[in-house]
Amino acid sequence: MAKKKRKQIVNLMVTGGCGFIGSNFIRYLLEKSDFQGNIINVDKLTYAGNPENLKGIEDKLGDRYAFERADICEQERLLDLFARHNIDTVCHFAAESHVDRSIRRPAHFISTNIVGTFNLLEAARGRGESFNLFHHVSTDEVYGSLGKRGVFRETTPYRPNSPYSASKAASDHLVRAYFHTYGLPVTISNCSNNFGPYQFPEKLIPLIILNAFEGKPLPVYGDGRNVRDWLYVDDHCEAIWAIMKSGRTGETYNIGGDSEMENIRVVEMICDILDGMTPAVDGKSRRGLVTFVKDRPGHDRRYAIDFAKLHRTLNWSPKESFQSGLRKTITWYLENKGWVDRVRSGDYLKWIEEHYRE
Ligand code: NAD
Ligand code: DAU
Repeated sequence: MAKKKRKQIVNLMVTGGCGFIGSNFIRYLLEKSDFQGNIINVDKLTYAGNPENLKGIEDKLGDRYAFERADICEQERLLDLFARHNIDTVCHFAAESHVDRSIRRPAHFISTNIVGTFNLLEAARGRGESFNLFHHVSTDEVYGSLGKRGVFRETTPYRPNSPYSASKAASDHLVRAYFHTYGLPVTISNCSNNFGPYQFPEKLIPLIILNAFEGKPLPVYGDGRNVRDWLYVDDHCEAIWAIMKSGRTGETYNIGGDSEMENIRVVEMICDILDGMTPAVDGKSRRGLVTFVKDRPGHDRRYAIDFAKLHRTLNWSPKESFQSGLRKTITWYLENKGWVDRVRSGDYLKWIEEHYRE
């Protein structure tokens, strides 16, 4: 497969840049890549978007960085931003991302993930020939659930099972359709479970780290034998950047960590690492805090990703092992209690309202 060099990216819109992966991606671009262009970070700042995740970035990037608080569901606003910043490239992270929330209240998932993506595609299409690339960040959950054997390949049929994954599947289809119908230059990536610094503590790994540290119950859904494939967030960022630079237009790439693990094993590993770093006050193993709770409705049993295409064509593979990434992540959460407290208390939401009044 040809590795086509893309045009130089000048004005890159990153949507959802204040979220978990988006903020890590902006840091990655600045600190670990050869990116020389400008970043326009477009984020609504929902509960999951926190400007503190990018503290210091404005100073380092200076004029090369702009933050625009905007909702991707507002088409007029997007058209204005694309024109004003002369956008030639988009890396689209913005989404409602938590499966449990999508089960309780699906409406925002439909508007942001589907309508929001549609609005961005339309704005990109409106840029005509000057538009370089629309990279869409998606999930392995669009493929549904696996049994004991098998892996997700780029050719695996879509079978999304939750409102979240169905909304992401719909957005993937829209992106693909804009390539085939209008010739919009696009790439899509479908990635497995990420973990690392700045992840909102509703997701399994940060939730378990914090609860275990505080001696609270560790909720494990069902029998704890559901399997996820885990990837350290920096490795995901590196893969996205490789695809944006050299991936083939119109193609989909799977990204995975080669780290399949039952949830109960992940929880036990966190307990053991924490016990080693900072023993519990009562001296007991934190494994004793594990509490099996009611299962998630429609809970996908197993995900496993075949990322051979990305490895073969762009020479990407994950650098961080699950164990070393987990240690780094645990250390980060223990060293950033201020961030954790502010995120949990919702203080930063009040701060946002004061600083970003429209
Ligand atoms: P996140 O929930 O941490 O962040 C989402 C960001 O999008 C937040 O900053 C939020 O404020 C912003 N946002 C939400 N609605 C918006 C709207 N209407 N307009 C503008 N901004 C809005 O999510 P994440 O975990 O960083 O995931 C980022 C992307 O990666 C998502 O598209 C997700 O589907 C995909 N993904 C995530 C994982 C994972 O394990 N977290 C794995 C594969 C793919
Ligand atoms: O696979 C990629 C997806 O990974 C992304 O597209 C999603 O945005 C991201 O949220 C993540 O989805 P999951 O549902 O797999 O992640 P979560 O951290 O919510 O759950 C991981 C597993 O742990 C899952 O099998 C459910 C289980 N779980 C989760 C929580 C929050 C528990 O057992 N207990 C919990 O308290």
